Order: sequence, then structure tokens, then C-alpha cells
Amino acid sequence: MPIHLRADVGDYAPNVLCPGDPVRAQYIAETFFDPGFRQVNKERGMLGFTGTFDGKPISVQSTGMGCPSAGIVFEELIMLGATRLVRVGTCGALQDGMAMGDTVIGVSASADDQTALRYAAMDGYAPCATFSLIETAAQLSRAADAGAVHVGPIVSSGIFYDPDPGTFARWKRLGHLGVEMEASILYTIAAVKRVEALAIMTVSDLLAESGDTERISDDELKAGVDKMMRISCAVAVS
Ligand code: HPA
Repeated sequence: MPIHLRADVGDYAPNVLCPGDPVRAQYIAETFFDPGFRQVNKERGMLGFTGTFDGKPISVQSTGMGCPSAGIVFEELIMLGATRLVRVGTCGALQDGMAMGDTVIGVSASADDQTALRYAAMDGYAPCATFSLIETAAQLSRAADAGAVHVGPIVSSGIFYDPDPGTFARWKRLGHLGVEMEASILYTIAAVKRVEALAIMTVSDLLAESGDTERISDDELKAGVDKMMRISCAVAVS
């Protein structure tokens, strides 16, 4: 039994959704899983649940915020038999024309936080999602007519409140669609452990080149997450 996920092999499905927020993990199980799901972890408040979606086995496990916390959870999920990890979260949007509630599918995740590069033990390593999951997520979002979906590079930061007002402009210049805080370690651990990984995010902040930020309302966020979550569940069990 791992240290932080107090569960045994078989308690988690091979396909696991990974939000940062434990409250959202519970919401996902209650709202999108078939009736009859069960709680499989509550250690440190990092709630995890296992059930089915459309009759197919699925789990959801919260990761906490940032690469160090999330990395522990991804490792332990793999120890417990997970073979496909789909991060479902929020991101700040960096490019012009992106709007609150849009969906972002992260093809690659630049490691602005150093955790993934330390894990990879290779300067310049490029953390990358599993192509078949990118393809499925893009196809399902288009078929569901789920509003604007952006597919491309993202950046994983270790700092939410960055004191440098030039950071967003530097990330934007390189074409990053958005910034979040966990995908780079997810893609790196998945590569090393030979499992599948994808990060799908809802835009929760608009980040201007000036360094100014605008935050989504609670209602807009719920609508964006609900729209993205059905697709994410379908990708996870595909
Ligand atoms: N920065 C980092 N992570 C995030 C943000 C952000 O602005 N919004 C949602 N996740």
C-alpha cells in the first residue's frame, strides 16, 4: 500500500481522471460516474473514487496543486495499476482570442517548474502527451460541439503569483496556449513509466502580456468544467 494513496492494487481502474482539487474529484464522481461508485482514498484529504462511466471502469483521484504534489500521486497511481492518466484542470489563457470556459488540450508541457527536468535527468527534455489521446480528445470535443477547443503547447509553472510582470509575454511569444501547474511532471512520469497521459483544461484566467490577470466567475467555471468533463470521461474510457 503506497504512503499517500491508502489503497490496494485493484482499488483503482486502469483509467484515472486527475483533477487538482479534491472537491472537484468528488463532484466528478457524483455528477458523471454511474451510480454505485466508491471512495478509495481520503489520506491528506486527497479524495479518490472508483466507479464506471457508461458502464466502463474509471477512477478519479485528486493530485493537489503543483508538480511535486501531483508527481507523488501519479507515481502511486501507477504503482496501483493505472495505465492511463487524464489530468482535468484549469489553466490561464495566454493567446489572443481565447475566452473564459474554452477548452485547452495540452500537446506538450514546457517545464517552467524544474521538477519534470530533474525527474527526466536531461536538460532540454520536452514533456509530451500521448498522441492517440490528443486525437481522441480533439475528435470528441469537435463532435460534441463543445465550444472553442485549442490544441497545442502549454507551460507548467511552479509559481501562481509570479512577481515578474514579463513572464506571460515570454510564454506567449513561444506559442503556449495556457499555463497550469502539473502537466509537465505528468507527461514525464508517464513517459518513463510507459503509461498514457493527457491534460485537458478549462480556461479560468485570462493572462495579459502586461502581467494583468482576469479571473472567471464561479458560474462560468462550473459551466466550462461540466462541458469539458463529459469529454474527459469519454477520453479516459476510450
Ligand atoms: N497560473 C497557473 N496555473 C493556473 C492558472 C494561472 O493563472 N490558472 C489556472 N491554473
